[in-house]
Amino acid sequence: MAKVTLSILSEMKKAGEKFTSLTAYDSTQAHLASSQGVEVILVGDSLGNVCQGQTSTVPVTVDDMCYHTRCVSMKAGDSLLMADLPFASYTNEQQALTNATRLMQAGAEVVKLEGEAWLAPIVTRLREQGIPSCVHLGLTPQSVHVLGGYKVQGRDEARANAMIEAAILLEKAGAAVLVLECVPSVLAREITRAVQIPVIGIGAGADTDGQVLVIYDMLNMTAGRKPKFVKNYMAEGGSAQDAVAAYVKEVKNGTFPGQEHGFE
Ligand code: KIV
Ligand code: NA
Repeated sequence: MAKVTLSILSEMKKAGEKFTSLTAYDSTQAHLASSQGVEVILVGDSLGNVCQGQTSTVPVTVDDMCYHTRCVSMKAGDSLLMADLPFASYTNEQQALTNATRLMQAGAEVVKLEGEAWLAPIVTRLREQGIPSCVHLGLTPQSVHVLGGYKVQGRDEARANAMIEAAILLEKAGAAVLVLECVPSVLAREITRAVQIPVIGIGAGADTDGQVLVIYDMLNMTAGRKPKFVKNYMAEGGSAQDAVAAYVKEVKNGTFPGQEHGFE
């Protein structure tokens, strides 16, 4: 794989070629993903859940994110490295710039923020400073206490329309990528078609430009009940390498996600 950049992801979108993303929290996982041709590695603040054992991502700090981003960047290879700005670390333009700078200096190439239209000026300011952003819409886990739980978002028309408008506005503001989490597949398709920038889905159906999963989920290492959108890639393959390779293959040939992994 040649070094993955945002322009390469845009070209893939134009060509209708699907791309893959996985989370990684350390250098071993980063090497596992990059060596199997995963285009985008995400240092997700899901590390609060899967590494720290917290019940949400709310307690994760910028220091935590910088530590894991540095670890991942050592072995991210040719994958594009994206890292989450954690809870309440981007409440205004100046704070976002300060904290995004720290993530970039830890090795991130794109920073991810959760929110909708209110992020537009922040995204513009980051871009002016050379920091590309990915906006995460739909189920935004940092807002779990406002959302009242981990639920599918955008089932009603008002919320769906607000999400479409936000996606278009954020693209205009300079967002480089979108992530859609737990939204109905038809809404994800509509948003993906409405913008030129690449859209990555998780629990958002098969029609987004890329797919992302939490690496522990697809390696079947997560305890307890797994979300509907997860597929256990250890069921067939004998190794983590085989599991990641199978995931990449299934995203590229369109067999993952299946209808059973999405929401109506
Ligand atoms: O933190 C994370 O792992 C994420 C993905 C689920 C998109 O934000
Ligand atoms: Na996240």
